[in-house]
Amino acid sequence: MLKFNKIYKQYDTPILGPINLEIEKDSFVSILGSSGAGKSTLLRLASNLIQPTSGSIEYLNNKKPNIGFVFQDPTLLPWRSVIDNVLLPTELTSKNVKLSKEKAFFWLSKVGLRGKENSLPNQLSGGQKMRVSIARAMAQDCSLLLMDEPFAALDEVSRNKLEDDLLDIWEKNKLTVLFVTHSVTEAVYLSQRVLVMSSSPGKILDDVIVTEKKSRDDSQNHEFFLKINQLTNILKKESDE
Ligand SMILES: Nc1ncnc2c1ncn2[C@@H]1O[C@H](COP(=O)(O)OP(=O)(O)OP(=O)(O)O)[C@@H](O)[C@H]1O
Ligand SMILES: [Mg+2]
Repeated sequence: MLKFNKIYKQYDTPILGPINLEIEKDSFVSILGSSGAGKSTLLRLASNLIQPTSGSIEYLNNKKPNIGFVFQDPTLLPWRSVIDNVLLPTELTSKNVKLSKEKAFFWLSKVGLRGKENSLPNQLSGGQKMRVSIARAMAQDCSLLLMDEPFAALDEVSRNKLEDDLLDIWEKNKLTVLFVTHSVTEAVYLSQRVLVMSSSPGKILDDVIVTEKKSRDDSQNHEFFLKINQLTNILKKESDE
């Protein structure tokens, strides 16, 4: 779906690199790493929002896919209603206004915001704003979904619910997901593969495949806990260095 070839990114100082990474089509990949490791920068590079200092990004069939981006903060326009925020990106690209509206309604109800379509962002809780941002990304029919700590601000119950909704959306919609989180448990629960980044400059330190089907209540599930331990140790070691 996406390939990073010898990517480096530098501002005043080197931030990232070298990054060599291939993300398979329809896979769910999480990225862990300490604050400042360059996770958000990596997503911005993946979406072409910023350009690498050197190296290149290749998309499948050399064609940039429709990309949905859920940013670390929900970035809603305060003067636009919920529905108009969801419609904003499609307004810019799509001619079929009616279809876009239907899709926006569909995704808002999918993320549990039916009835909030005409609210303004400042009438919503933090978690609800995040849901708007997820609906906005999904309403664009994206095939690559980039998510930057989307559930960090949520309480545990809402978070678990949205994680399961996201897995459902991923399974039903042929999506490639690149998901940044600080939660090892969340990464292992959601993904098929977990990347761990080290910092200054950011690199991929480890690449862990998670194969077993996971279940939240299955305390007998060995792989789940083994992977969580393995990744927690990698992160600990990295932060001690
Ligand atoms: N536009 C910019 N100009 C200068 N430095 C930047 C810019 N954007 C990011 N950086 C620097 O790049 C490094 C990586 O930032 P990035 O936001 O990618 O980290 P992160 O892994 O997402 O951290 P967090 O977990 O806190 O969100 C940081 O040291 C940050 O200060
Ligand atoms: Mg970040």
